[in-house]
Amino acid sequence: MRASRHEGLELKVPQPVPEDWRNRLLAHLMRLSPESRRNRFFVWMSDEALARHAARTDPAAVVEARVDGMTRGMAEVHLLHGPRAAAEISVSVEDGWQRRGIGAALVHRAIREARRRGAEEITLFLLPGNAAMRKIAFRAGFVRAPYGDGTLFEARLLLPSVAVRRARFHWPAGLDLGRARA
Ligand SMILES: CC(C)(COP(=O)(O)OP(=O)(O)OC[C@H]1O[C@@H](n2cnc3c(N)ncnc32)[C@H](O)[C@@H]1OP(=O)(O)O)[C@@H](O)C(=O)NCCC(=O)NCCS
Repeated sequence: MRASRHEGLELKVPQPVPEDWRNRLLAHLMRLSPESRRNRFFVWMSDEALARHAARTDPAAVVEARVDGMTRGMAEVHLLHGPRAAAEISVSVEDGWQRRGIGAALVHRAIREARRRGAEEITLFLLPGNAAMRKIAFRAGFVRAPYGDGTLFEARLLLPSVAVRRARFHWPAGLDLGRARA
């Protein structure tokens, strides 16, 4: 993964999500520039609004990207309740640490964490002008889903269901289905 460009990069997924994570999330979000805040939340976000988000958000998992022990990026994985096992992920990397592969590494790890929790479909939202996120999502296999009036993009990644994955895993190598049925 390109994140290996960073010798000191560690991705942490603390379980269970500890309370002090909220403080680290808030400190990280406060270090984002106004433009990065807008790309992350799709509206202008004051420090107070970030504090409200950090206090209320309730993710199933968080992924922390630490460089030399300092938090520089974070991803939230939220499980969605609906007819399909689905998750939504969101990600941010501090401005001075962008373009070093950390965002892509966070997204890949967030997908893995969502999948481990049974998600069959992953959604992420992004502003149309967010070139970095578009690149990361496209490379990870997300496709654009029809959403709203085009001021916000929804990207969706379909994962094989657990049943299909299990069936594939147990498929005997070289089995010819036609002959097996005959
Ligand atoms: C989107 C974001 C997470 C990307 O993080 P990152 O660490 O810079 O991403 P990466 O380094 O993995 O870059 C992925 C690709 O995007 C490119 N890229 C990064 N920033 C870019 C920019 N501002 N404009 C154009 N391309 C950019 C990188 O060069 C890389 O492409 P390459 O492999 O061809 O060189 C980061 O910009 C960010 O936190 N933005 C604010 C929050 C946000 O937008 N969140 C997404 C919605 S939830």
